[in-house]
Amino acid sequence: MSNLFPDSPFFGGKTHGIQGFPIRHIFMARAIHKIAESNSEPKMLEVGSWTGSSVLTWSQAIVEFCSGGGTILCVDPWLPYFNEKDIFSNSGYQDMNDAAALDLSYNLFLHNIQFAATDVKINHFRGSSSDVLPYLAADSFDIVYLDGSHCLEDVRYDLAQADKLLKNGGILCGDDLELKGDECDLEFAREHPNSDFLADPKTGNNFHPGVTVAVHEMFPEVSSYCGFWLMQKIDGKYQTVDLVSSSFVMPSHFPEALQASILEELKAYLEQKAVPKS
Ligand SMILES: C[S@@+](CC[C@H](N)C(=O)[O-])C[C@H]1O[C@@H](n2cnc3c(N)ncnc32)[C@H](O)[C@@H]1O
Repeated sequence: MSNLFPDSPFFGGKTHGIQGFPIRHIFMARAIHKIAESNSEPKMLEVGSWTGSSVLTWSQAIVEFCSGGGTILCVDPWLPYFNEKDIFSNSGYQDMNDAAALDLSYNLFLHNIQFAATDVKINHFRGSSSDVLPYLAADSFDIVYLDGSHCLEDVRYDLAQADKLLKNGGILCGDDLELKGDECDLEFAREHPNSDFLADPKTGNNFHPGVTVAVHEMFPEVSSYCGFWLMQKIDGKYQTVDLVSSSFVMPSHFPEALQASILEELKAYLEQKAVPKS
């Protein structure tokens, strides 16, 4: 890989390297700003890393906000994980399964993390969360980020493990909460525990039903920003987190056009948040 892309990370082609909703990375970085209030050298666990885009955002934010740098442990099997039914509805999933089967995603991950800030140490274990997380020490991470399997039982498992692994004061967070439990047709979501991404009949919006149900079960009230959700553990209880802040990190590995569109989207989001509810 380094021969092909000696000077930069690579997220292009059919890699689907920049996943989902890029605006969420702005709020991910703000979560680091939040943790930096009490911790100058955070230790982080990421479940689901794909080709390393989120790791680069985390590391950039850690260097920006945490004077002591930090560590990130990535856990991912880097194997095909979409089932036939979901592939049928989304051709990108076939590309991702192919990239994983060829070990392209794993090798790209190894290549891309070389461009992370040097003050941040990145380690990884190649295995599913259920393979790896039971081996990790309880109360040892300041941030746990869940972006792995979207199947309901898997997300329930990841949440329970994350709770065990998180230190007091730490942040438990994740991707893919397009709709909270009280916003969608929750019965419909429960009837589709293993579907990856589909339309909610109540709102018409696409969402990840397994993530919505599992997060709702653990956190009936949850803070979320454009689908990035987070909660802070204080004395064994979880509190919502206010990420309204002037701190701002734009992931430098995002192409310029994407950076510009994120700024537009963020402006619209903040304007909409500022409109008083009648
Ligand atoms: C949406 S991608 C992650 C994207 C990445 N966080 C980013 O933003 O660049 C989901 C990843 O989760 C991994 N995955 C799927 N099931 C998993 C499991 N049970 N445990 C850990 N990782 C899993 C997949 O291999 C894939 O790389």
